Amino acid sequence: MNTTRRTFIQTTSAAVLGFPAILRAKEPNDKLNLAIIGCGGRGGANLGSVSTENIVALCDVNENNLAKAAEKYPGARRYADFRKLYDEARDIDAVVVSTPEHVHAFATMPALKLGKHVFCEKPLTHSIWEARMITEAARSAKVATQMGTQVHAGSNYRRVVELVQSGAIGPVREAHVWVSRAWGWQSEADAASNKDIVSVRERPTGASPVPAGVNWDLWLGPAPERPFGEALPKAAGWTWLNVWATWCKPCVDEMGMLTRWREAFTRENVPVTFELLSVDEPSSQPQLEKWREKNLPGAIRWLRSEDDFGPFLDGLSVDRNAAIPIHVLIDPKGNVRCVRVGAVHEENYGAARDLITQAE
Ligand SMILES: NC(=O)c1ccc[n+]([C@@H]2O[C@H](COP(=O)([O-])OP(=O)(O)OC[C@H]3O[C@@H](n4cnc5c(N)ncnc54)[C@H](O)[C@@H]3O)[C@@H](O)[C@H]2O)c1
Repeated sequence: MNTTRRTFIQTTSAAVLGFPAILRAKEPNDKLNLAIIGCGGRGGANLGSVSTENIVALCDVNENNLAKAAEKYPGARRYADFRKLYDEARDIDAVVVSTPEHVHAFATMPALKLGKHVFCEKPLTHSIWEARMITEAARSAKVATQMGTQVHAGSNYRRVVELVQSGAIGPVREAHVWVSRAWGWQSEADAASNKDIVSVRERPTGASPVPAGVNWDLWLGPAPERPFGEALPKAAGWTWLNVWATWCKPCVDEMGMLTRWREAFTRENVPVTFELLSVDEPSSQPQLEKWREKNLPGAIRWLRSEDDFGPFLDGLSVDRNAAIPIHVLIDPKGNVRCVRVGAVHEENYGAARDLITQAE
């Protein structure tokens, strides 16, 4: 039988579920035509992960994020509205959806209807009803699909799926699903005890100007009309930025100490949020994210790839040619209060705490 690229993908993809499933199943030297919908944090990282393929279309409601993604793929068509992208999707084999979750189902459904393979970030949808609609559509479309809960593509989970499907525990009549805590929608006390960085109880009130380059109407998409509000409030207090990379051994060695410091600050009620700035290649970020989730639960997040490093230094008013800061302490008003180009050591803990608690 003459196996074309498309039939090859369709017949093998169900069994091959590494990230992204759609890429593992193609024939060598035969590239897929991909569309990227949502080019922000995860979108940027996912773009790095699929960079071996043909990126034929990019879509984002934020012109700035779109332009940044287009720097590497100047030949890709650009869209603010994914409905237009799907109007012109003949050459597209698969889409990668990394928008916020209220849009996931709406950006995924047209792909399924058009027979395109889909990788969509987690959570799959905004409501259970949407999840059911997408499940049905995916079943009829017979395409390769994957949600961005990457660990579910690992062999351990796949073996469990096989066991259940083989009838090892008999017919499954009921499934109970739970989560140990809220991420974000919680009181400050809960956020502190969960070692989480976000605590939100209310929707933003009032209206702020829509940032330049953002199409707010398209951002809202299927959500009810509401004015633009400032983004989720960050935990009040100081920010400790730590620039590092996996290839920098001293940086990695310092992690355990910083994690202990963070716990000590929490115990002593010293208001500091740690933010980890990875300068690793975006393509390695999914793996790093897994490492981070295991080793630094909830405490520190990936912020930037190497591309953002120059603008980051500019933002701190640090000369791009000067030594790279490794530790930066920013006060609640956004003023840089301490820049350190080298490591910090156990004996520096008291000085850091004093700086934070005694600053005006
Ligand atoms: N798999 C993981 O490990 C993981 C980790 C973090 C976040 N996520 C998920 O990834 C998704 C994106 O999160 P993020 O942190 O990248 O957010 P983000 O805000 O950094 O990026 C979202 C991007 O989508 C764009 N966008 C918004 N509406 C759009 C639309 N209608 N069409 C096209 N573009 C649109 C935004 O302008 C922005 O560039 C979320 O659903 C989040 O839950 C997954």
